[in-house]
Amino acid sequence: PSSPFIWNYPTLIAHRGAGKHAPENTLSAARLGATHGFKMMEYDVKLSRDGVAILLHDDTIDRTSNAKGPASQYNLDELLHFDFGGWLNPKYTGEPILTLATMAQFTIAQGICSNIEIKPETGLEAETGARVARIAQKLWQHASIPPLLSSFSETALEAAKLAAPELPRALLIENHVPDDYLTRLQRLGCVALNLDTTLTTQALVEQTRQAGYEMCIWTVNDKQRALELLSWGCKGIVTDNIDTMAPHCFD
Ligand code: G3P
Ligand code: MG
Repeated sequence: PSSPFIWNYPTLIAHRGAGKHAPENTLSAARLGATHGFKMMEYDVKLSRDGVAILLHDDTIDRTSNAKGPASQYNLDELLHFDFGGWLNPKYTGEPILTLATMAQFTIAQGICSNIEIKPETGLEAETGARVARIAQKLWQHASIPPLLSSFSETALEAAKLAAPELPRALLIENHVPDDYLTRLQRLGCVALNLDTTLTTQALVEQTRQAGYEMCIWTVNDKQRALELLSWGCKGIVTDNIDTMAPHCFD
C-alpha cells in the first residue's frame, strides 16, 4: 500500500445490516444487527436521480420494494413513498429506503464501523464512486474510525480515491482472482482485498498479507469456516448469520 495503514476494524461484519433476518440495507436491519452485538456492518450504496447516496443492492428497486425501475430513475422524495420492507415480511411493511446520511448517523452514534460497498448502476461507476466518497468524507469527518469503501468496480474505486484519497479502500473480487490482482490493489491504493469465501485459500491469504494488504471474506455463514479463515490471518468476516455468528459467539 502507498501509505501505512493500521487496520482497526472489528472482525465480525453484518452483511447488508442484518443478513437475511430483516429487510436488507434498511434501518430495521441495522438495528437488528446492532441488537446482536455487531460492531461493523457492510451495506450497498448507490445514487438516486438527484444524487443522494442511498442503500440498495440491486440495480433496480424491483426485488426489495413495492415499486419498479432503476434507482437512478427516482429522486429521493419519490423513493421515500415506496415500501422497502413488506417484500420480506409483512411486519416490515412501510420500511423506508435508507439514506447513507441516516445510516452514518445511526452507526456513528452506536459506535458501529461501516463497510460501504459502492454498488454503481452500470454506466454510473465513476460518478457514483466519486460522489459516495465525497458524501462519506463529510458524514464521517468527526467519527473516530473512517468507513471502509469497497467495490467490485475498479472505476468506482479509482474515482473514490481521487475524491477522498484518505478514506480506506478495498477491492472486491468474485468468480476469479486475476493474476495481476496485487498490481490492481496497489494502483487503487487499497488497504484490503475483500474476497469471496469460495476463492479464499491459505496460500492466497499469505501472499496477499505478505504484500501488505488485509483480507475481508464474504459471505461466511459457517462458524468453523470463519475460524479457519481467522487462523489464516483474515481480518474481516462478513456474515448473514447474525444469530450463530454474532461477535459473542467467538469470545
Ligand atoms: O461486500 C461483500 C458482499 O456484500 C459482496 O456481494 O452481492 O452481497 O453485495 P453482494
Ligand atoms: Mg454488498
